[in-house]
Amino acid sequence: MKSPVSRTLEALHRRYAGLKEGQVADYIPELAKANPDHFGICIATRDGQLYEVGNTRQKFTIQSISKAFSYGLALEDRGEDHMLAKIGVEPSGDAFNAISLRPGTGVPFNPMINAGAIATCGQILTHDGLSRIDRIREYLSRCAGQSLSVDEQVYRSESTTGHRNRAIGWMLRNFDIIEEDPEDIVEAYFQQCSLLVTCTDLAVMGATLANQGLNPLTGERAIAHEYVDNVLGVMASCGMYDWSGEWIYRVGLPAKSGVGGGILAVLPGQLGIGVFSPPLDSQGNSVRGIRVCMDLARELALHLFNPSAVPPPALRRSYNASQVNSRRRLPQEALRMLRRFGERIRVHELQGPLLFSTIEPVIRVLVKQAPYCQHIILNFAHVPAVDPVSARLLAEFSQSLTDSDSNLHLCHAGSFARTFMEAGIPASRIFATEDAALEHCEDLLLGDLLDGPIEAPSVTLSACHLFRDCSETDIALLEAGLQTMNFEAGETIIHSGDSADAMFIILSGQAEVLLRVNGNHQQRLDVFSPGMSFGEMAFLDASPRSADVVALTRVECRVLSREFFDRLGLEHTGLQAVILRRMALQLSERLRHANIEIGALRS
Ligand code: DON
Repeated sequence: MKSPVSRTLEALHRRYAGLKEGQVADYIPELAKANPDHFGICIATRDGQLYEVGNTRQKFTIQSISKAFSYGLALEDRGEDHMLAKIGVEPSGDAFNAISLRPGTGVPFNPMINAGAIATCGQILTHDGLSRIDRIREYLSRCAGQSLSVDEQVYRSESTTGHRNRAIGWMLRNFDIIEEDPEDIVEAYFQQCSLLVTCTDLAVMGATLANQGLNPLTGERAIAHEYVDNVLGVMASCGMYDWSGEWIYRVGLPAKSGVGGGILAVLPGQLGIGVFSPPLDSQGNSVRGIRVCMDLARELALHLFNPSAVPPPALRRSYNASQVNSRRRLPQEALRMLRRFGERIRVHELQGPLLFSTIEPVIRVLVKQAPYCQHIILNFAHVPAVDPVSARLLAEFSQSLTDSDSNLHLCHAGSFARTFMEAGIPASRIFATEDAALEHCEDLLLGDLLDGPIEAPSVTLSACHLFRDCSETDIALLEAGLQTMNFEAGETIIHSGDSADAMFIILSGQAEVLLRVNGNHQQRLDVFSPGMSFGEMAFLDASPRSADVVALTRVECRVLSREFFDRLGLEHTGLQAVILRRMALQLSERLRHANIEIGALRS
């Protein structure tokens, strides 16, 4: 089925395919051969989805669009200060080929006009046996996600006729803006402009900028993260030459055009647009390209300064430990304490992307609550992105809490855990699950309130979840048939990989489920307390154990062996059915929980 996004692009293509305004560039003789009817539109999303219509796979020369990317490369080579000293970032209001150099210093106004682009080319280092054009070609190829090559005919055509650019090169040499032979640098510039791309390449290059420098198709880092905003900034202010002001006013997207007929536009964080149509207006911008971008920006609400959607409030749900407790069973006294003092442990579920505007209201609430609580747990299960600013603000909040003897704990932080640790939140405060975080905070709070450690009360067989529906006679039968096993704290009850011929029911003590990651590093998945059973998965499907179960305290278990279970099936079918029903309920409960966790990790 055709996507409505494709239909939108097709409608646009139909709307402007018949537009005959503009002239194909002919100041470079080879460019005059371009077919004025070629017309392609492509959108590449930040996650690599392509929507394309028309001549999107037709090759043409990138021309000035290369300037934005070579500026990125020069920034990576030389750093921001050096580049700002060599080339300004002010819109010149001049044509692309104007000899726009600041009087006195010879500093070009910006890297998007020819003078600035030639100066930029001169800053690109030649190393590892690679010439400037080799490095530029490789850089742009990484952005496009495929190997780009120079159109030798266009290059020679421009080199033969590019006297004005040569003059600019010598002017730049005169002012020491470039320090090497300007002839070589200008040749590299001509070659950079003659790199062949397609409309789809432009969209992907745009999406790479939208995706903070990571190519969404290859997953490769193409542009250093710290310079993406510099490149986009200069595209926004200077990318469309003397039409840049009106462009940003109307379309509202950082963009760059080229006399080959291409336009590349970027909606940061979201998508890249490539349009190809050779006829140009008097400013050297593609006529159809501009119309398409204006309509797209309006129809898809892409204008950067009028975002149509604001992120949802980051605070999704809040509760405290007098309302919600960890899953383990607690003694009556501990439960009573938590009902009374549980407000000192607060849990906040967060949602949506965390950036300054969404984390600020959360921090406002946390700061207000801080004097009244000892432990704050933030649950990131529904958070798809955390920017470094949010991580830093949370780390600073965490530090000030610690200074006042309180603590911030994080859970379900997934791939953001590293970001938080780098921001300064100790690894010991980051928990895999909310249950583990709650348990930890309960232990700390109850440790303060009660004398001695909290012990989960032991239970009898009839109080175990698995045997809840059993009659007294059934229980007597089970008492006689289930073997007793004791384990010391730290002892492994179940080894992952072992075959399973029994399942376990805990009467006293606690055991944790540990998942082996890369052979030995282990991650806690769950904690079993008295009344709970474990090991039923491998018991039921006769596959090897999937995780380790280790005693956290001294543990007393009853063991339901396969032999006994099979005997029930023959002699006490009703009882076996009752137990199986309970097992099914227990497994579906765990699956439900796992689904929530998986959903959160994928959101
Ligand atoms: O410097 C030149 O003349 C060309 N190679 C590039 C100019 C260009 O694409 C201007 N953009 N609209």
